[in-house]
Amino acid sequence: MRVLIDGRPVAAEDAAISVFDWGLQRGDGLFEVVRSYGGRIYALDAHLDRLEEGARKLALPLPAREDLAAWLTAVAADGGDCRVRLVVTRGGALPDIDAPGRCIVAWEHMSEPADGLRVFPLEAPWHSGGVEWDLTGAKTISYAPNMSATRHAEAAGFDDALLISRDGWILEGPTWTVGWFVDGVLETPEMSLGILASVTRMEVLKTAADIGLTVVEGRWDLSRLDSAAEVVAMSTLKEVSPVVAVGERTFSPGEGTSQLARAFSARVAASL
Ligand SMILES: Cc1ncc(COP(=O)(O)O)c(C=O)c1O
Repeated sequence: MRVLIDGRPVAAEDAAISVFDWGLQRGDGLFEVVRSYGGRIYALDAHLDRLEEGARKLALPLPAREDLAAWLTAVAADGGDCRVRLVVTRGGALPDIDAPGRCIVAWEHMSEPADGLRVFPLEAPWHSGGVEWDLTGAKTISYAPNMSATRHAEAAGFDDALLISRDGWILEGPTWTVGWFVDGVLETPEMSLGILASVTRMEVLKTAADIGLTVVEGRWDLSRLDSAAEVVAMSTLKEVSPVVAVGERTFSPGEGTSQLARAFSARVAASL
């Protein structure tokens, strides 16, 4: 049960979709990555909510929510401690080829978490960066610009990129949300910048409320990090991870990061 296509188990080495699928040809589709802890998925509902919202925006047909949940749950149970990827494609649009949209659910091994992320600030002209548009928040499979940003950062000797808007605002990582501590307050870019509605960000905000940590959401440029003591990356796979460098600026993970990471882990454990 490592791979299901439209709910049917397929051997991983045989798992395939049509070459005529617009998911492949045009990046037309949606995806989610959920985390399985010992075979149980964290925040499944929030991921399905985001998927359904994206599907509405893209007018992308989805399988029934209870089927999606059952498939994800079954694959996660098989994978144990893993990540589970869900991809829904548009399908083909040729008159002579029947290539319906596909729903792929597959578990993948967790890669080793980085010890402390070193990130390279990079302008992201493709990012809405605060300009309103109707697809904001849809987690489409058109991720080539984000992946390219990561490769550019790696070529510059860093682990990943930190995306900066055309106006100079700090946005997010290519696959994670960013935050930092200034005088014990957690600051994080606001949603109106067009960043992804990260499930982890949402859960971290609840965690912060639980432990009495003040959070401020807003718009800042990179100079704000001159006042920051610690920087964190947040995502389903990274959870709350320390960032130890942003370009030339260096940071040492301290009490803010470890307290938030511990509280987040406790929240995850309590919900499983
Ligand atoms: C651009 C972007 N921001 C943030 C995140 C973190 O989102 P989540 O916490 O839902 O994993 C992701 C995850 O893929 C992402 O692609």
